[in-house]
Amino acid sequence: MRIFSSKPIMMYAMGILLIVISTGIVFSQFMSNYIILLLVLLTEYIILMMILHYVFDKYVKPIRKATDTLDELVRGNFRARMYHPATGSMASLLMKINALARSLSDLSINEKMQAEQLSTVIENIQSGLVLIDEKGYIHLVNQNFISIFGKTERDYLGYLYYDVLDNEKIHKTIQLTFLYEENVKDSIMVENGVKQYFEVVGAPIFDDRNMLKGAVLVLYDITELKKLEAMRKDFVANVSHELKTPITSIRGFSETLLDDDLHDKETARHFLGIINEESKRLQTLIEDLLALSKLEKEDSRLVFTSINMSQLLEEVIPMMNQQATQSGIKLKVEAERDLTFVADMNGVKQVLINLLANAINYSHKEDEVSLTVGKQNDFIHITITDTGIGIPNEALSRIFERFYRVDKARSRNTGGTGLGLAIVKHIVELHKGKIHVESELEIGTTFHIYFPIQ
Ligand SMILES: Nc1ncnc2c1ncn2[C@@H]1O[C@H](COP(=O)(O)OP(=O)(O)O)[C@@H](O)[C@H]1O
Ligand SMILES: [Mg+2]
Repeated sequence: MRIFSSKPIMMYAMGILLIVISTGIVFSQFMSNYIILLLVLLTEYIILMMILHYVFDKYVKPIRKATDTLDELVRGNFRARMYHPATGSMASLLMKINALARSLSDLSINEKMQAEQLSTVIENIQSGLVLIDEKGYIHLVNQNFISIFGKTERDYLGYLYYDVLDNEKIHKTIQLTFLYEENVKDSIMVENGVKQYFEVVGAPIFDDRNMLKGAVLVLYDITELKKLEAMRKDFVANVSHELKTPITSIRGFSETLLDDDLHDKETARHFLGIINEESKRLQTLIEDLLALSKLEKEDSRLVFTSINMSQLLEEVIPMMNQQATQSGIKLKVEAERDLTFVADMNGVKQVLINLLANAINYSHKEDEVSLTVGKQNDFIHITITDTGIGIPNEALSRIFERFYRVDKARSRNTGGTGLGLAIVKHIVELHKGKIHVESELEIGTTFHIYFPIQ
């Protein structure tokens, strides 16, 4: 293509001039009239120049433009196009070059979009991600990975994984992924102030000829899962423990009764009384467990109806009054008149019963328990105050946990299961309400509950 170099038209013009001069020299041998000779040469020159111009415009110029355009495309400028009036096969060639440029441009836009989408996905997935080539060099780490292990992208990219990652289990996962050329799983613990648990999955990457090209390592945060698992294990252990005590006692006393010939009626009655008590305890425990599991179900549907507070109190107070009187405690109730709100009737009753029972159970004889109900903004505000034993500060945040009791023996003696407040909290939360407790040892405790009116 170099023949169309910098100033080709000049070269051709020079060539034509040489042709004209040579014909002039030849013609001058047998032409004596110099004016006619000059005219002939001029005509020859003009004709040759016209031919040159025609050829140049029709073939040379478009080919030059095409070359320039292709050069631009090769350089990656896919917006390069060429315009030249042309006919026939030249026109078709030019059209095809433009079409090629257009599809290259479309392809590159697509590729860019895909690359952007991919990097957005990589950056935004909730897992840490590292890409390692077959030699062990790190090619990519995402933001999440950096936030797990610290440092910056620069500290990883281009380095061998075993030089910059110092978790043995991660090394092993990568090695096994390369060795077996299949997905390998493990879990690791990372301590950055807090303990975090991750599942590490190594997956091999193959090229189109099925040759191993590297591996991608993904780290899923399973801290929450671990916590839930620990909670579940705790719960199962607690339930088993709680069930074991009454069952052992029932079994022990019934076996003694069976072995005995029941001559001593008094002792037999005493044993039967204990068996009865323990089976009641079992029943309450199971009822509370069922209530909790029902509240925890995803589709636990509370029945929301319009509730008249006075009516609800009439159903709850007599029962609680009786319990209070038995313990020598005075129960005071103060409620605003005509309070109505939308809530689950049984749920609200359960909340009042559990809290009043606690207030009574954790008070001394002659203490006072008071219940007040009023309206505060868009909420029904219920307070239950006692002048009882109080709750130590360090226990305040834990009393809503299942099976947590400050004093196990005292709770057991009053028939407590350690689940009452967990149930209360669940019900209040399902109503999008709030619960709050203040307490001082040997002074008393106040629970505040807020139920949204609507
Ligand atoms: N009004 C209160 N005064 C003192 N301690 C309380 C009061 N309410 C709850 N507690 C403490 O919180 C613990 C958990 O309460 P709860 O879930 O109702 O279980 P329990 O079956 O033991 O009553 C109780 O064991 C008790 O230590
Ligand atoms: Mg209780």
